[in-house]
Amino acid sequence: MKILILSGNPKKDGLCQSLINAAKQGAVHGAAEVEEIRLCDLRLDSCKICGSGWGTCREEHCCSFGSDGFDDLKTRLQSADAIILVTPVYWGETTEAFKSFIDRFRRCEYGGSGIISNKQILLIASAGGTGNGLLTCLEQMDRFCRHTGASIFDYFGVNRWNSDYKKTAIQAAAQALAKGRKNGDTLPG
Ligand SMILES: Cc1cc2nc3c(=O)[nH]c(=O)nc-3n(C[C@H](O)[C@H](O)[C@H](O)COP(=O)(O)O)c2cc1C
Repeated sequence: MKILILSGNPKKDGLCQSLINAAKQGAVHGAAEVEEIRLCDLRLDSCKICGSGWGTCREEHCCSFGSDGFDDLKTRLQSADAIILVTPVYWGETTEAFKSFIDRFRRCEYGGSGIISNKQILLIASAGGTGNGLLTCLEQMDRFCRHTGASIFDYFGVNRWNSDYKKTAIQAAAQALAKGRKNGDTLPG
């Protein structure tokens, strides 16, 4: 089982990274091979909105500007068995780097080749001081999964006053994901 963690976090420490580390630990305990990709390091371009709204994304399911690292990212997502999407909450949304990825990827995948369709996806949003915007951020990630046909394994909204028990739950969720559990599986008892 290969699990890809796709992160919109620009930081290498702090709350969001601690959640990523918890997810990693859980996945490793579940015997998965884990890879973390940091979108802020990739510095992908944002969508250039070709033509009158659509470009090659519509018919050919690929981006004309994919050589900036976007095509490579698509290949890595395709080769993953399950995916964990993680982002800090910025302005009640995902980070800008994460949003740029969403914008380009769903254009190629909407009614497309199904690179992540039916894959199990765990969603994690981490909020800061106010905790405002967790739901709208998760909603944005939820919509991305629906546009791309991905299967949402679970959602976690985390802030500084629930991070202790949510971290434990994230670790357990990643472990269950690594062991092949799917959204819709019924648990005993
Ligand atoms: C530009 C920007 C916008 C932010 N907007 C929000 C927000 O809308 N709601 C919120 O609770 N936190 C917000 N934050 C705080 C981050 O969500 C927070 O830093 C992160 O999720 C968790 O903390 P970490 O930085 O320790 O990883 C914002 C931070 C930045 C830099």
